[in-house]
Amino acid sequence: MGKFGGKVIVITGAAGGIGKATAKKLSEQGANLALIDLNLEAVKQVILELGLDDSRAIALQANVAKEEEVKGYVDATVEKFGRIDGFFNNAGVEGTTANVEDYPTETFDLVFNVNVKGAFLGLKYIVPVMKKQGSGSIVNTASGAGLIGSPGFVGYNSSKHAVIGMTKVVALEVAPFGVRVNAVAPGVINTRMMRQIEKNTVPKDAEGARKAFGTAVPLGRYGEAEEVANVAVFLLSDDASYVSQSIYTVDGGQINQ
Ligand SMILES: NC(=O)c1ccc[n+]([C@@H]2O[C@H](COP(=O)([O-])OP(=O)(O)OC[C@H]3O[C@@H](n4cnc5c(N)ncnc54)[C@H](O)[C@@H]3O)[C@@H](O)[C@H]2O)c1
Repeated sequence: MGKFGGKVIVITGAAGGIGKATAKKLSEQGANLALIDLNLEAVKQVILELGLDDSRAIALQANVAKEEEVKGYVDATVEKFGRIDGFFNNAGVEGTTANVEDYPTETFDLVFNVNVKGAFLGLKYIVPVMKKQGSGSIVNTASGAGLIGSPGFVGYNSSKHAVIGMTKVVALEVAPFGVRVNAVAPGVINTRMMRQIEKNTVPKDAEGARKAFGTAVPLGRYGEAEEVANVAVFLLSDDASYVSQSIYTVDGGQINQ
């Protein structure tokens, strides 16, 4: 049956690199999944690829920055499965790369709406379900960018610092109810997001940027989505039963050097 047999896990950004890799590992261990993304077709495709039937998985389209749509995905999950044991609060956008004086305000708004308000709304609607159950594990996707400053990333870095703050606050609020909240802080991971960041880097040399990002990592390479998924799955599982309010870097040793 697997470690997650009978458990219900909600994943946002489930059509993306890290979300999909996490969905795969959880499905292999028996979890029932509610997979949420802006891109409904892509998330339906994930369910097909994982070979899950209707009894094990539901694909839901939602913009995590819109309160009614967040309420909608939480209600639909509870209606279908009756409970929520784990929440991978993972949807995010990178914005652009520009110094503060040139950073477009509308891009700053977008990054904060998705990365901060989206994460907040997910917590706001899933926490009551878990408190009522007296159990649950939440993993927020922060970033190494939430722990350091990276020139050119005022929107993204600030937003991920906020996710870490949110993790610390909500972990304390829900601990008395048997609910745990942690964050993963990935470094440079091989997904669409890093491909876009490489393209945005000035001067324009995506291949050069990719090499430079990789060699800056003590382990000398990008991480894979599966390597982040391994840590997220651990934190979602009962193996992490005494872990809460922790920020797990998954970054090849980069951030804390
Ligand atoms: N790739 C990296 O190097 C890296 C490093 C640190 C943190 N992260 C974080 O990991 C998370 C996953 O990123 P990824 O690397 O898998 O990128 P990705 O672009 O492959 O996946 C992001 C997913 O989020 C979805 N999404 C975006 N905006 C949304 C919205 N408003 N509502 C619902 N879904 C939305 C996208 O459709 C996409 O499927 C993000 O929070 C990202 O900031 C990534």
